[in-house]
Amino acid sequence: MISSQLPHHVAIIMDGNGRWAKRRGLPRVAGHKTGLESARVIIETAVEYGIDILTLFAFSTENWQRSSEEVHYLLENLLVLAFENELEQLHKNNVQLLFVGDLDRLGSKLGEKLRIARELTASNSGLKLIIALSYSGKWDITQAMAKIANKVARAELGARDITEQVIAEYLSCASIPDPDLLIRTSGEQRLSNFMLWQLAYAELYFTDVLWPDFRRKEFISALELYKTRDRRFGKC
Ligand code: FPP
Repeated sequence: MISSQLPHHVAIIMDGNGRWAKRRGLPRVAGHKTGLESARVIIETAVEYGIDILTLFAFSTENWQRSSEEVHYLLENLLVLAFENELEQLHKNNVQLLFVGDLDRLGSKLGEKLRIARELTASNSGLKLIIALSYSGKWDITQAMAKIANKVARAELGARDITEQVIAEYLSCASIPDPDLLIRTSGEQRLSNFMLWQLAYAELYFTDVLWPDFRRKEFISALELYKTRDRRFGKC
């Protein structure tokens, strides 16, 4: 099915790990562990299909409010191990890794893994894999506004110079085209503070499938449905 009508940029809210685990009488972390397998399969499928950009919402600003055990497992254990185990294969697959979010809030162990991954894959020309960590759309817009306010205060930018393009340049995904398709798993139909600016014209795809069960077949279904969408961007 590989086709030019595929989305260039797919963004995913990977939701439902906790419910997947609960239904099986397992601890929540078991859902995250299996969810990581789904992420691996979706990344491989995105490479296979020649998707240009894949953005995964791995940890939100709001997720800091979860139990310290869960936050620790996700950020100090699962993700650290994931980079140790997967980085070489991602690099072999020509994937370029980028990270967005308030990364200074992350621990030094994970921070170091992100730095290594970013530097190792910086010249890769295949899939751009953006992982959003300690990220929220409101955080992103706020940090952009603070930078712009500084420029204005130093008279390096005038109020009249502030256009949509200028604002976009200060957002985390500056120079990355906006997502064409947003996928959210687990039946929830909301954006939950994800890429609020960049999703303005994205096609939305919601599925009841929980993230740990979202694999190649489910991803291809979403890509197929995207091809049927008529994107008018406000024009008739
Ligand atoms: C949402 O499910 C999932 C998360 C907060 C963590 C997502 C992270 C992974 C799947 C690891 C993948 C990471 C990378 C780097 C690709 P939930 O816990 O909110 O589920 P619930 O709504 O059922 O409780």
